[in-house]
Amino acid sequence: MILQGKKIILGITGSIAAYKAAYLCRALIKKGAEVQVVITPAGKEFITPVTLSALTGKPVISEFFTANDGTWHSHVDLGLWADLMLIAPATAATIGKIANGIADNMLITTFLSMKAPVFIAPAMDLDMYAHPATQDNLERLKSYGNYLIEPAEGFLASKLEGKGRMEEPDTIVRIIESFFERQETLSKKKILITAGPTYEKLDPVRYISNYSSGKMGFALAEVCAERGAEVILISGPVQLKTHHPRIRRIDVESATEMHREALSCFPGTDAAILCAAVADYKPALFFENKLKRNDNETRVLDLVTNPDIAASLGEIKSKKQILCGFALETDNELSNAKGKLKKKNLDFIVLNSLKDKDAGFQKDTNKITVIAADGEITDFPVKSKREVAEDIVTTILQPK
Ligand code: CTP
Repeated sequence: MILQGKKIILGITGSIAAYKAAYLCRALIKKGAEVQVVITPAGKEFITPVTLSALTGKPVISEFFTANDGTWHSHVDLGLWADLMLIAPATAATIGKIANGIADNMLITTFLSMKAPVFIAPAMDLDMYAHPATQDNLERLKSYGNYLIEPAEGFLASKLEGKGRMEEPDTIVRIIESFFERQETLSKKKILITAGPTYEKLDPVRYISNYSSGKMGFALAEVCAERGAEVILISGPVQLKTHHPRIRRIDVESATEMHREALSCFPGTDAAILCAAVADYKPALFFENKLKRNDNETRVLDLVTNPDIAASLGEIKSKKQILCGFALETDNELSNAKGKLKKKNLDFIVLNSLKDKDAGFQKDTNKITVIAADGEITDFPVKSKREVAEDIVTTILQPK
């Protein structure tokens, strides 16, 4: 009964799927949750507040004031009260407004004041859902740390068929239950994560690097923090933001800087996941002035090796610490990965192959195999980097 006593704000907006909100209320309450409904004026056209307040045992909140007695509903208090907010169904209009902070009703002010995690379950016609405006708004909301419960494919009220149906109430409840179940499983753990590429400077305007986007490492940091861990994220130059307050981010540029920070942070941690695509080599010389083009000359660049962060941590790791590396391979994948696991004294290595079209740099998906030092090999199907992060964390830090 993980939902026992949990305080949930259910935001309902003006979609035909609002009738499913009654089932949602019932399912949440049956599991022991306390539910406060906040509904938009359009939502009330689809389901009556009487139904909802009968189910929740609480007056439904819709307006800022109750006209007959002047009672003022405080969205700030609601934001502090809740353990979680769920907006289901969420229309394209509400998604657009909350993504842009347009606070013109009680539900949206509550969303903007929310201190707890927010889950958004869209419901709309397939074309509205697929429209770049809606997709951009959802991406923006996700980038602010909100969770999307993707709509299902199926028969829509418009009589069309496609992606846009609000996910079924039972599935939504399961997603919320598993969120709470995961939340505290890594509490009191301290985890170091390296992410992104490194830049190795050649002259004031040039550097050597690689295509790493940092997405996998950042997803790992978010998942560990959500499960209760304190995370130190050492990141090379990337375009990504961190959201969770339990993530302490240290930005670095070169492999040497990343090595220095990793060595200084590692001793106090329970585990390190080394996801960064560290440049193996750096220019032997840094040119103070910009190198000039010379058409009559073939330039030869001298490179020297960078420190190997994984190998350095492998040397100093204690018996209690877990060390996990990554291997991105193009050939002889399994034997190369096993070789790195041994050479760097890792406990696990996560293998992705560039032969898999859904894996690798810049992508939003990944396909991994986790190899343990004891020889156990676990294969996973193609998943989003976020789901892959969940699998990695569960496999290496929370084995059943
Ligand atoms: N790694 C590291 N420091 C380096 C190079 C790699 O910490 N200087 C880590 C990576 O973060 C990864 C693992 O070691 O977790 C394997 O990285 P990879 O680049 O695949 O291995 P290399 O040892 O560099 O081998 P190669 O480039 O020859 O495949």
